[in-house]
Amino acid sequence: MTESVLKAGLIGCGRIGAFTRPELRDSLPAGWLPLSHAEAMRATSGYELAALCDVDAQLLDKAAVAHEVAHAFRDYREMVRVARPDVVSIATRTAGRCDVIEYIAQRGVRGVHVEKPISTSIADCRRALATLQSNKTQITYGALRRFMDVYRKAREMVRAGEIGELIQIEAQMGRTLLLWNHPHSVDLLLYFAGTVQVEYVWAHCTFQEGAVQSADLVDDDPLVEQAVIRFSNGVTGCISSVSGFGLVLYGSKGAIIVGANGAWIDRRVSGPNHSPEPTERIIPQVAVSGRVRAYQELRDAVLSGTPCSISTAEILQGQRILMAIAASSLRGGASLRLDEVSEDFVVSGKFGANFA
Ligand SMILES: NC(=O)c1ccc[n+]([C@@H]2O[C@H](COP(=O)([O-])OP(=O)(O)OC[C@H]3O[C@@H](n4cnc5c(N)ncnc54)[C@H](O)[C@@H]3O)[C@@H](O)[C@H]2O)c1
Repeated sequence: MTESVLKAGLIGCGRIGAFTRPELRDSLPAGWLPLSHAEAMRATSGYELAALCDVDAQLLDKAAVAHEVAHAFRDYREMVRVARPDVVSIATRTAGRCDVIEYIAQRGVRGVHVEKPISTSIADCRRALATLQSNKTQITYGALRRFMDVYRKAREMVRAGEIGELIQIEAQMGRTLLLWNHPHSVDLLLYFAGTVQVEYVWAHCTFQEGAVQSADLVDDDPLVEQAVIRFSNGVTGCISSVSGFGLVLYGSKGAIIVGANGAWIDRRVSGPNHSPEPTERIIPQVAVSGRVRAYQELRDAVLSGTPCSISTAEILQGQRILMAIAASSLRGGASLRLDEVSEDFVVSGKFGANFA
């Protein structure tokens, strides 16, 4: 759309930043690849990946060679001061991520692509998004499925009324961790629900022993057994423990299933007297990967003000839902309005020796 080239910097040169795990290359459907920030950035027109940053010197050198980047920094502040990127991509772990966002927004960076989850609390998320807004810094987010052609096609089908009125959305990510995996589930629910207004959330999680340190601190990344998010328009979002990376959209006249992590779409429409019609399988054409689309949108937002397909309201609401899932479970599976969850409630994201 333009010949301007944005100078980009990447902070965090680990697996998702610079080195896609080899087994993912063989197993992920087309809409996922290129996945790493560095690869996807280099595959998107309108960017020059000009600077890398990682606190790990060895990894930084390896990434600089692999991605042919001349400028490498151990400190992101120095990277921003010296390399002066227009756009920064953040692929560090969650702790401290909002400090990075605030720092770069306050120093003239015009666009940022941020890994999920954005933070470990609502307060941090709100603060970081407010700083982006007051500095007019654009953002796209690492909940990538909403940027992929297959999920976009499924949403078009729902909006065209192909399964009647949307009733329920089920995200099937398996029995897995709240902050590590369910930012994806929650974002899918928000993407399909047709509103960000939530009536209540209830959930059941399993916490590690000793993880609940106080009413405002869970030192854990809880396993989500089940969660229900009731939207104000009557659509129910469900996070189940069913595995397979499926998304099932139930409507009044049938269902659409996005299967195998976005490899295909099945449409099952009810015939006369509710008898099922044969299932139709659709394999949408994939133009670019979700990450490349996120960078394209960010580029266009920075250069010409075109709104990105994820809003800061959706990012904030996603974070509030994640926190409400943990909070509901701590209160015995109570139905919680989002304003009943303290903005200072922290879920650290710790699992084993690792953090989300
Ligand atoms: N969107 C997706 O599909 C997806 C997939 C996997 C991981 N993730 C998310 O991406 C994040 C990173 O995951 P990963 O598996 O790549 O982790 P990783 O540990 O492999 O990489 C993180 C890198 O950030 C570096 N780092 C940490 N703090 C830094 C700082 N202050 N300055 C510079 N570098 C710093 C670390 O040294 C490390 O190399 C996680 O939050 C995870 O949830 C997203």
